[in-house]
Amino acid sequence: MSITIGMDIGTSGTKAIAVDNHGTLLASALFEYPLITPKPGWAEQNPEDWKSAALHALSSLAYQLGDRRHDVKAIGLTGQMHGSVFLDDNGQVLRPAILWCDQRTAKQCDEITEKIGAEKLIEMVCNPALTGFTAPKILWLRENEPHHYEKTRAVLLPKDYIRYVLTGEYATDVADASGTLLFDVKKRQWHRELMQRLGIDPAWMPRAYEGPEVTGKLSPEIAEKTGIPAHTPVIAGGGDQAAGGVGCGIVKPGIISCTVGTSGVVFAFSEKITLDPKGRVHTFCHSVPGKWHVMGVMLSAGGSLRWFRDALCASEKAVAAETGHDPYEYITQAAGRIPAGAEGLLFLPYLTGERTPHKDPFARGAFIGLSLRHTRAHMARAVLEGVAFGMRDSLEIIREMGVPIREVRASGGGARSVLWRQIQADVNRTPLVTTNIDEGPAYGAALLGMVGAGLYKSVEEACDNTIHVEDMCTPDTQQSDVYDRWFVEYQRAYMALAEGFRRAAALTS
Ligand code: XUL
Repeated sequence: MSITIGMDIGTSGTKAIAVDNHGTLLASALFEYPLITPKPGWAEQNPEDWKSAALHALSSLAYQLGDRRHDVKAIGLTGQMHGSVFLDDNGQVLRPAILWCDQRTAKQCDEITEKIGAEKLIEMVCNPALTGFTAPKILWLRENEPHHYEKTRAVLLPKDYIRYVLTGEYATDVADASGTLLFDVKKRQWHRELMQRLGIDPAWMPRAYEGPEVTGKLSPEIAEKTGIPAHTPVIAGGGDQAAGGVGCGIVKPGIISCTVGTSGVVFAFSEKITLDPKGRVHTFCHSVPGKWHVMGVMLSAGGSLRWFRDALCASEKAVAAETGHDPYEYITQAAGRIPAGAEGLLFLPYLTGERTPHKDPFARGAFIGLSLRHTRAHMARAVLEGVAFGMRDSLEIIREMGVPIREVRASGGGARSVLWRQIQADVNRTPLVTTNIDEGPAYGAALLGMVGAGLYKSVEEACDNTIHVEDMCTPDTQQSDVYDRWFVEYQRAYMALAEGFRRAAALTS
């Protein structure tokens, strides 16, 4: 038997899994770490925390596998995209990493767009300047922390910092590199001309590989620390969305996924480059060599429900702690008793600003239409529906672009709730299926590892042999009719409030 490891350097924690060549899960480990918010709208993490979690996770897998750890043939990496780790010439981390959901770079995004031109930028790197992306963060560092900028010699994405820890190599993959705004997504290589125009040293960016390629070997020092055999190949892998796409079988035309994790992502496979001229959805390289993907990203999908749980559901949390249940079970049960449309209550899920479709770092969350009739259960229902409306925004843009949609697969933590899946199926008027795999990006990274280790000839073949559809939620047309009407109001609500969000941001800054 051959085993591969998939490791996901996520936002709430690092998850590592060991999978055999038939795709069966053999072992799994998760180590969490905090998110640091030094100022409103800022989001940072300490790369040392990722390192410690990754090494603990690998040690835990080695322990769980026992003697079978000698059958490990590859480690595939994935992780939160867009985060920036700044390293000096000794490979030392200069400051905490600035994450994908950080909103501090609105000014730098405007500067980039002005300098290059909005259309030209999309022509060069297929995407507009967005606050979470890497390029504006580098410019922010130059303007605000010149002492760190002067010492910077390399900029790595989160999972690639862990790759450096494991192998000593600076490397990345084409999917994650696509989210830096410095990558020529069409040609699948760094965009040196753009870097030069922005005054960013191209030598800072690591070599970019296709998802299943080998980027280095596990160092004897880390092997000694973790128990995973020395010289195990470490595979390029992919940013968490592309690897999550692989882990859900989104490797062929017509199949798309709706993933509700902290963020919410509608992800579609694309045989060729497909662009939204308005830049509302992202076009990135896929982890399938020579292919692309298009995706719409909501910044607070599962994150909205987590906020609701933590801010307003202390009693559900207390009961859950006593009964050993998950507080989300109580919250969604209560929401399930409220009719579609939450009796006139709408929720805007823009708690950390929004990317798709608004590209607006100043947007904020809102409950609209509160009346004396509304209870916490109505609010829970409105949160689930608001997130589903946000996902529909992305789905409609992807449809508009002519990307074929034959089957929609639900994944991420949000897919575990039958109610939330049904709401999404109703809101989108599209059946929503679930697969046998619930391991997210780590599973995709393990599959890329299998291809890299030569256990399968292609990513498509690895997916065909391991992933199948299990369950389907069919839309209820009556509910869909209700949601169609509320979706219009949902879209209008943002339009009505956008200016106010901007003014409120100016007042609080
Ligand atoms: C994708 C994105 C998020 C992060 C978090 O563009 O920003 O999904 O990768 O996981």
